Amino acid sequence: MEQDLILTGRVLSFAASPFAVSSPEAAVEQHEALGLRGGKIIALGSKAALVKALPGAQIVDHGERVILPGFVDSHVHYPQTAMIASWGKRLIDWLNTYTFPEEMRFGDAAYAARIAARYLDLTTACGTTTVASYCTIHPESAEALFTEAQARGQRLVAGKTCMDRNAPEGLRDSAQSAYDDSAALIARWHGVDRLSYAITPRFSPTSTPEQLEALGALWAANPDCLMQTHLSEQLDEIEWVRGLFPEARDYLDTYERYGLLGKGAVFGHAIHLEQREKDRLREVGASLIHCPTSNTFIGSGLFDMGGLMAAGHRIGLATDTGGGSSFSMLRTMAAAYEVSQLRGLPLHATQLLWLATQGSAAALRLEDKIGNLAVGMEADLVVLDLASTPAIAQRAAEARDLWDAVFPTLMMGDDRAIAEVRIAGRKVV
Ligand code: GUN
Ligand code: ZN
Repeated sequence: MEQDLILTGRVLSFAASPFAVSSPEAAVEQHEALGLRGGKIIALGSKAALVKALPGAQIVDHGERVILPGFVDSHVHYPQTAMIASWGKRLIDWLNTYTFPEEMRFGDAAYAARIAARYLDLTTACGTTTVASYCTIHPESAEALFTEAQARGQRLVAGKTCMDRNAPEGLRDSAQSAYDDSAALIARWHGVDRLSYAITPRFSPTSTPEQLEALGALWAANPDCLMQTHLSEQLDEIEWVRGLFPEARDYLDTYERYGLLGKGAVFGHAIHLEQREKDRLREVGASLIHCPTSNTFIGSGLFDMGGLMAAGHRIGLATDTGGGSSFSMLRTMAAAYEVSQLRGLPLHATQLLWLATQGSAAALRLEDKIGNLAVGMEADLVVLDLASTPAIAQRAAEARDLWDAVFPTLMMGDDRAIAEVRIAGRKVV
């Protein structure tokens, strides 16, 4: 049996959502130590208490470093790893010019395996321990990511992307093959180890009504899978959807009428929503994913975090690699802060960290497993060095309190701030 482990440092644990309490800081508890056994968290408390409770445990002392749940990136496209940061296009042109040609390469299983490994190396180095990824239309692309994540013992949500129109030759499936290939992947991977499947129509412009209907039927047959897609990212896109689905009440209705709205639906972007859409999304408990670096990089707009949170929506945070311009959830928290400033409601450090961990976990319906440091949770965690560069160190030295010390790393930090990463208790960085 593996030896128990005690990590000491500034262990931060959410007692509540910092969006749900009057003082965000009151939502976070600080402990001296964290006890791990068999890939799970078994104790939190003072160092003395844990040493007494776990005799023979190995002790890893992190001093003044901050110990947090591993970051959860709730909307990514791993196949876009090699074309991240491509210049000068907005959504539809960006897809046609940069994204689709790159995604075409994933019919080659060896290429897919290479990028899957590269992607998980890059994100792990940034402290991300779970992602929800789109793959490409090729079942091989999903096989590659599931296989790689399984080998690493990593929790993963992923799905084969489905598109049967408005995509180039070679990057289209059909209603029937999307159903059959997705069903085969569900049978092979969903619920195996730490892996789960998300039924993944890319977005309604690239699916015929027949394909959306087929995927709605697949979801009804597999209701414990998630369903992930895009919603109301850019105004041009919304106009295009209106033309393609003249009978639909709004963009959300293009999913709703085919059985693709419900608890367990995860909508990326959701920037330009109408009131009916907001009401329905909240009523059914669907999740919205804020992708701030992508929304500024592709020029999409400013997500209404304040309004949507106040209305009671379930919201996660994500990089949206490679529409997003970074693999790092630290950089993504900085962008979320900047967007919140532009909307006049600055997010607190506790709120940014919650969005990147428990908020994203809850958006993926995984909050009972990951996203918090609490007894019984899986031991995915990240250790932050709050003085990782000279610029951050000199600012942190002036900090008035814990959150004033953490905030500069959220704003200015990158993979150099990631002192250690553990996946199911095992050290991987
Ligand atoms: N909408 C449809 N596909 C995509 C994609 O790959 N990235 C982003 N940002 N938006 C999309
Ligand atoms: Zn996306």
